[in-house]
Amino acid sequence: MSTSPSQQWVSELAAWAIDPAILEGVAESPYTFCPELFRAEVLRPDGRAPESPLLAVARERLPAGGSVLDVGSGAGAASLPLAPPAARIVAVDSQPSMLDALVDAAREQRIDVTRVDGAWPDVADHVPACDVAVCAHVAYNVADLGGFALALAAHARRRVALELHAAHPWVDLAPLWQHFHHQPRPAGPTAGLAVAVLAEHGIAVQSREWQRAAPALHGELLATYVAYTCRRLCLPAERQPEVAAALTRHPPQPRRSVVLWWDT
Ligand SMILES: C[S@@+](CC[C@H](N)C(=O)[O-])C[C@H]1O[C@@H](n2cnc3c(N)ncnc32)[C@H](O)[C@@H]1O
Repeated sequence: MSTSPSQQWVSELAAWAIDPAILEGVAESPYTFCPELFRAEVLRPDGRAPESPLLAVARERLPAGGSVLDVGSGAGAASLPLAPPAARIVAVDSQPSMLDALVDAAREQRIDVTRVDGAWPDVADHVPACDVAVCAHVAYNVADLGGFALALAAHARRRVALELHAAHPWVDLAPLWQHFHHQPRPAGPTAGLAVAVLAEHGIAVQSREWQRAAPALHGELLATYVAYTCRRLCLPAERQPEVAAALTRHPPQPRRSVVLWWDT
């Protein structure tokens, strides 16, 4: 019997399960996101990073004074730059510290934000429909990608715009994982498989690929990145100097990223 794209997606995500022997004794979850790094993405301190095409795709269908639903909003990189023309952002995220960062940034920029704490689509019934729904860099966290996307479409009056890396974001960590744990890591799933999953659910997307600049890391932000990478590698904090040294040999690289969108 052949495997459907959805089944393939689920099994490729499951292949990322961390060896229980490595997870044992880890003090802090390797899966928790770091608000400081995502906040830096929103503020773009050096002002040089090119803007994601997701923002232009969203603006095309966003009326003046309209609303944006941002699912897995993090600190708001995919939605705060849309206000204006948007007058209201509805931000959904399952990690409260990420929403705290978004609310702080929105306050500084005087943007009207409605905050919804919880996992999509579990909280969808408590979320109002908006003109445009955006969802950036969340898909690889979601096993039921089809159901997730259909719930996004049901909450977008005009368009859904979804961005994901060309391949699972942890693929980039593979050389460091090999170095510290002597284990290979998977190579997928990919954005191509995500497109097939969406098609299986009756969603035909347009797409645009682009290259995201490597994060601009200096000063405190570099120290934060080292600590974050150490945690994602399931290593104790005292090994941060080793991680910093390994990162000089394998610095973060520019990444292929894919924006998918469809009108509702
Ligand atoms: C990689 S970050 C991306 C944040 C932001 N969209 C950006 O592009 O900077 C992923 C975010 O999605 C959130 N997240 C993951 N799965 C989620 C789900 N099912 N529902 C809501 N939030 C989710 C995480 O807590 C995290 O804040």
